[in-house]
Amino acid sequence: MASTSLHPLHQSLSPKYPHLSHNSRFTPSRLRFTSLRFPSTIRAASAVALEPEVSTQQSQTLEVDPFACPICYEPLIRKGRPGFNLPAIYRSGFKCNKCTKTYSSKDNYLDLTITAGMKDYTEIQPARTELFRSPLVSFLYERGWRQSFNQSGFPGPDEEFEMAQEYFKPAEGGLLVDVSCGSGLFSRKFAKSGAYSKVIALDFSENMLRQCYDYIKQDDTISSTNLALVRADISRLPFASGSVDAVHAGAAIHCWPSPSNAVAEISRVLRSGGVFVGTTFLRYSSTTSWIERPFRERVRWNYNYFIEEELEDLCSTCGLTNYSKKVQQSFIMFSAQKP
Ligand SMILES: C[S@@+](CC[C@H](N)C(=O)[O-])C[C@H]1O[C@@H](n2cnc3c(N)ncnc32)[C@H](O)[C@@H]1O
Repeated sequence: MASTSLHPLHQSLSPKYPHLSHNSRFTPSRLRFTSLRFPSTIRAASAVALEPEVSTQQSQTLEVDPFACPICYEPLIRKGRPGFNLPAIYRSGFKCNKCTKTYSSKDNYLDLTITAGMKDYTEIQPARTELFRSPLVSFLYERGWRQSFNQSGFPGPDEEFEMAQEYFKPAEGGLLVDVSCGSGLFSRKFAKSGAYSKVIALDFSENMLRQCYDYIKQDDTISSTNLALVRADISRLPFASGSVDAVHAGAAIHCWPSPSNAVAEISRVLRSGGVFVGTTFLRYSSTTSWIERPFRERVRWNYNYFIEEELEDLCSTCGLTNYSKKVQQSFIMFSAQKP
């Protein structure tokens, strides 16, 4: 694999992280994903302001989470069981005190899209986003669809994961958000690695998140103690500015409605020193013949395929530095850091 402009941190590709032993296993049969809404009596501006009410409701716990309102980016206040794990999050209600909007879990993921709770308005996204909302594509994704990327030079999930982990070393122990996680192929690996205090699997597709939940249920080795499933739009990430240590976007940027809005959002949520790692298909690479290039320029199908220079330009224009990349045929893994 050709490796260019490699950041010194990223030169070795043989990371092996010690797996943490998790005492608490995910026990799906005991879960009931009821969504508790905030009682209308709660009017606090912060968790501290809510204290008097807490003292009168001993059975309920309020805590501040990594989640922020997708409308105003104020931190959301949780009411429900404490802890950053699937059962606790899905049995909780979240509220933005500024917008007075509540957010709750649907089936098995927390819906933090702006449209959450809307009754009459329906928004249709570009085809490259809508495609992945289909139950069939979500079902097929890890059953052949993703494997077909290897023909374009994708090394495959295990190697891509190891490569990403190497880039993410400065973010170890922090909050990792796997944006556009699909059915959670990499989110599950990040959660299992034990390298992060919290992992958020985030996607716009309800069916991808349902599929992700099904895979988590089937895998006893995935800890329930540090993983959340969240529905959100990449152009409106539900996190406060500077609050995220690592953002992973596997095979995703070409699917986003506005890659520039999305990378700007990623840059906004990353803390100083935080790391962004993405993979995608190149329109063509430096090794593509000049004869083939005009053809590749015209045939873009539905997706936003990039050339190497565009990805670097996008990252730097959105305020990210230390850009580096690895290229193999049409596959590129790129990384950039928040200064
Ligand atoms: C090709 S899949 C990638 C899945 C996985 N990350 C991987 O590496 O295989 C692209 C994902 O991007 C998601 N996506 C598309 N538009 C999005 C948006 N506006 N916000 C968040 N995710 C989006 C799709 O739902 C889909 O799951």
